[in-house]
Amino acid sequence: MSKRTLRVSKIRNGTVIDHITRGHALDVIKILGIDGRAGGVVTIAMNVPSEKLGVKDIVKIEGRELNPEEVDKIALLAPHATINIIRNYRVVEKQRVKLPSVIYGILKCVNPSCISNSGEPVKSTFYVEQEEPLRLRCHYCGRIIEREDVLKQF
Ligand code: CTP
Ligand code: ZN
Repeated sequence: MSKRTLRVSKIRNGTVIDHITRGHALDVIKILGIDGRAGGVVTIAMNVPSEKLGVKDIVKIEGRELNPEEVDKIALLAPHATINIIRNYRVVEKQRVKLPSVIYGILKCVNPSCISNSGEPVKSTFYVEQEEPLRLRCHYCGRIIEREDVLKQF
């Protein structure tokens, strides 16, 4: 093992979100509603050397396994992330997040006069024009939604 091994502890039970695009660790924390006042140990590592990405961020959450909706939200802001579920120190599940080409329901259009905001029974629908930096286009009004707009909603 090299002398320059990363010194971030392994976790016993919980979730490791690995391969987060550099600079996005805090977005992930925000999406998951983590404020540090409840629950177990949360470790945030930024600008960690990575073979695949050059550098990456990592978030480790003790005692919590993410649900599918949370995984989908992470895909919006960290499209290359890997979600590792850890039980008794072992990786029991490894999942690459995947941003679908169309996103239904999770987000609101930022255009107040968009039909999706009018109380009509339409499900918000966005097309992913670009993953990084994020650019989504509203199906109904064409408005472009960016990372900052998404973060404000979570
Ligand atoms: N990890 C951890 N605690 C454990 C087990 C794993 O914090 N008890 C972390 C590792 O440090 C790593 C991630 O979870 O950041 C995934 O672990 P593993 O699959 O063993 O690593 P790699 O094979 O390097 O993962 P990948 O192939 O996804 O790059
Ligand atoms: Zn719209």
